[in-house]
Amino acid sequence: MINMVAVNEIHADDLFKEFKESSITEFFRKNRAHLGYSGKLRSLTTVIHEIVTNSLDACEEAGILPEIYVRIEALGKEHYKIKCVDNGPGIPLKHISSVFGKMLAGTKFHRNVQLRGQQGIGVAGVTLFSQTTTGKPITVKTSTGKGKVNELDLMIDITKNTADILRNEEYSEYWRGTEIDAEFKGVRFTLSERGPFEYLRRTAIANPHVKITFIDPEGRKTVFDRSNQKVPTPPIPVKAHPKGLEVDELINMAKANKARKVSSFLGVAFSRMSNARIKEIQEHVSFDLNKNPRKLTWAECEEIINAIDKIKFLAPPSEGLMPIGEKQIREAVLNIVDPEFEATLTRPTKVHSGGVPFQIEVAIAFGGNAGRNIGEGTKFELMRFANKAPLLFDAGGCAITRSASSVDWKRYGIRDFENAPMTLFVNVISTHIPYTSAGKQSISEDQNLLKEIRFALMEVGRKFQIYYSRLRKAEERELKKQILRKYSAAFAAALAELANRDEEKIKKELYVIIEEKISGMDAEEENGEELDAIPQEEIMKTESE
Ligand SMILES: Nc1ncnc2c1ncn2[C@@H]1O[C@H](COP(=O)(O)OP(=O)(O)O)[C@@H](O)[C@H]1O
Ligand SMILES: [Mg+2]
Repeated sequence: MINMVAVNEIHADDLFKEFKESSITEFFRKNRAHLGYSGKLRSLTTVIHEIVTNSLDACEEAGILPEIYVRIEALGKEHYKIKCVDNGPGIPLKHISSVFGKMLAGTKFHRNVQLRGQQGIGVAGVTLFSQTTTGKPITVKTSTGKGKVNELDLMIDITKNTADILRNEEYSEYWRGTEIDAEFKGVRFTLSERGPFEYLRRTAIANPHVKITFIDPEGRKTVFDRSNQKVPTPPIPVKAHPKGLEVDELINMAKANKARKVSSFLGVAFSRMSNARIKEIQEHVSFDLNKNPRKLTWAECEEIINAIDKIKFLAPPSEGLMPIGEKQIREAVLNIVDPEFEATLTRPTKVHSGGVPFQIEVAIAFGGNAGRNIGEGTKFELMRFANKAPLLFDAGGCAITRSASSVDWKRYGIRDFENAPMTLFVNVISTHIPYTSAGKQSISEDQNLLKEIRFALMEVGRKFQIYYSRLRKAEERELKKQILRKYSAAFAAALAELANRDEEKIKKELYVIIEEKISGMDAEEENGEELDAIPQEEIMKTESE
């Protein structure tokens, strides 16, 4: 018999003595950058982001006007204590430990609703980050408003991905909401554009119905008051749209569905899947759609996907998506940026990969306080949002940044784009935002998303161009007027002497003539102005990408 193992080699049996399983929590403890905990400032902003997005989601689902209190207290060098309080629905006692002590647990990821959270790891990540930097538990106080408040100290048992409750006190009090107190080390607070202050300011811009009170480590208090009193409509689950669907997604949905036939599965699982469309699919596939959906093979699912590609479907319904709204964005932008010019736009609903509906909202603000103030001047500013939550990091790899820089701004009269006193606001809303990582700070470069964001920006760019060219023309006319008036003064004096008439009277008459001629030019130019939408060649460029 041949011995396969040479003298110095180690046998697989020995190597595999080390084979072990790990928990998801253990993974994130070792790789916390995946959750956004890298860098001292970013880590602090991430903590605020996770807690505040949860409060806003919870209020939105419960139909409550959110009121949020955030305090950051300095305890020592790079050591802070954070208190966040919301007036949301509270968390039922039996779920508290899973919410804060278990990764991949929550009320959102399985429901296809447009909310800020979608993975069920956010706030457990906060608990984990707190305990791994301080060795201490976090404190949670919560009540659903029935007269009983629970106050708990908890940590995560890393190996089991479950919570260790160290204290649970129950007392009577009429109050409703959730309060989190936690300490963090190795983090830093600054007022920079990536810090918690800017995060909360942008949250206020994109959520005009929210009131946020912020106390910074110096004890300074800022109140971002609501400009809109309307309680947002709770999100409703939306079905996937057939376009953009992938084979893997389809086969998994088919396996989980209880329908008896593929045809009825298609009808209930997807939006815009009418009987007529199902019939069309039947014409394109080689098997009977009366078969059991749980017995669909990969090849059959591929056939269905290919059929869907060839068929026209109505655009996805927009009911499940909740844009901020053009009016609300305008109010918020005017309120905070106070620009000379602004334009807002909400595009129709489209789908990205996996048949997921999404919608783009944009605003452009020019002049006034628009742009980023950098001491010696102003720079262009891009405010990115996903489901109304600000994205402050990883701008480089984000679909929003890519789209904004792909627009030829010169075409719209903005020559030096990078240094323009301009703020672009882009909000992507969807029941599933394709983030590039669990840290949720950047959106992946899906072709459909890139195209829609680009279109939206081009449309507001066009609106800016019209305003800007009018402005420039008005300035040119004013200049012409001034020159003509200067000459007419000298002219009037000479004429008065020659004809022996009153100089002032001649001057006034000449001014009237100038006024009439220049206003005539105004009207002519306005009539000749082309108000077409996006230039055709731009559309072609986008379509072919
Ligand atoms: N402030 C809060 N009020 C009510 N429920 C909350 C609050 N914070 C978290 N939750 C609940 O805890 C779950 C887990 O939160 P999280 O780990 O951040 O995941 P996600 O937000 O992605 O669902 C949420 O889905 C929600 O049900
Ligand atoms: Mg969350």
